Amino acid sequence: MKNILVIHGPNLNLLGQREPGIYGAQTLDTINQAIMEKAKALGLAVECFQSNHEGEIIDKIHDMKAYDGCVINAGAYTHYSYAILDAIKAVQKPFIEVHLSNIHARDAFRHVSVIAPACKGQIAGFGADSYLLALDAIAKIV
Ligand code: DQA
Repeated sequence: MKNILVIHGPNLNLLGQREPGIYGAQTLDTINQAIMEKAKALGLAVECFQSNHEGEIIDKIHDMKAYDGCVINAGAYTHYSYAILDAIKAVQKPFIEVHLSNIHARDAFRHVSVIAPACKGQIAGFGADSYLLALDAIAKIV
């Protein structure tokens, strides 16, 4: 069975109460449950990890030896963390970038993803389903 890591970045622990008009009403726990159900259907083992700290996310990416692929929502770090970009490049495993919202339809600073060049692709704008679509994609890659 392939092992997939799902990383949720900063402020995603507040889902459900954080700007629900943009990010939806589902909590992170509910989204993680849907992720686990989808993983089961796809025959994948999945671990979900959330951190508000750039260094912790980088340390987790360094642990990618234990995983075959990663689905990452780096939150606002997406737009400026060259350190997360470098970490993804360093571990040489497939990453899929996800966002709940359509970052290209929002503030100009959100149109840029500095991690995108190190990822296989990006899924944005489908709410919690973005994660489930990313699992479909990573299942085909690993
Ligand atoms: C987000 C989009 C980012 O711009 C924002 O900073 C987030 C969430 C999303 O899932 O839509 O924290 O990654």
